[in-house]
Amino acid sequence: MSDPKIIVALDYPSELRAFELINKLDADLCRLKVGKEMFTHLGPVFVEKIQNKGFDVFLDLKYHDIPNTVAKACEAAASLGVWMLNVHASGGSRMMEAAANALANHQNKPFLIAVTVLTSMSQQDLSELGINDTPAEQALKLAKLTCSSGLDGIVCSAQEAAIMRQNFKHDFLLVSPGIRPAGSQPDDQRRTMTPSDALNAGSDYLVIGRPITQSDNPLSVLRTIHSEIS
Ligand code: C5P
Repeated sequence: MSDPKIIVALDYPSELRAFELINKLDADLCRLKVGKEMFTHLGPVFVEKIQNKGFDVFLDLKYHDIPNTVAKACEAAASLGVWMLNVHASGGSRMMEAAANALANHQNKPFLIAVTVLTSMSQQDLSELGINDTPAEQALKLAKLTCSSGLDGIVCSAQEAAIMRQNFKHDFLLVSPGIRPAGSQPDDQRRTMTPSDALNAGSDYLVIGRPITQSDNPLSVLRTIHSEIS
């Protein structure tokens, strides 16, 4: 079975725009990420439509609530048949363990990963929350908590992948956004890496949005990246 490493981020305001792209993509070469914007507009039906076209879905809703609520939300996501879903590690070990337990006996159990520190957060943002560690130190602490809580991996910048790999075994998944093929625009991303450098650094899956979604020929960009990393 193919295990595409590329996860295309669907950041669109409408179903029509999203399907204009999806209809040009190949499910053997990529998976699709559905986030809060599209899910809030279009709901589970949209996820089902994408899956019916043969694509695996990473449902990026970053659950963060009391353990029981997160566990129930994860169960609901799993029953949609998604391939991967996520929570916030800062919800704590009891919340993450409740989420992992809720999925444990699920048929076709999705991967459950956690966001450690949002890459949008600076040192000052953390100090405002009473956290005096650097974002990287805090991310490593939360990654360790994620691992000991029984989750399958984390979202992390490819720039953090090498240090994460030194701390975790290979079955702990690293899913990295901020990926830019050589020569493409960084857009608003600040700490980017090329797809092959990210995989070499230890990332397992690459979340790629605009380099594919804003291209005149998304399938050609997808094929080029896929062959570069294969
Ligand atoms: O267009 P681009 O490749 O920058 O899209 C990256 C995707 O990954 C977007 O959906 C963005 O919200 C998401 N993401 C990110 N940085 C994180 C977590 C998620 O860019 N730390």
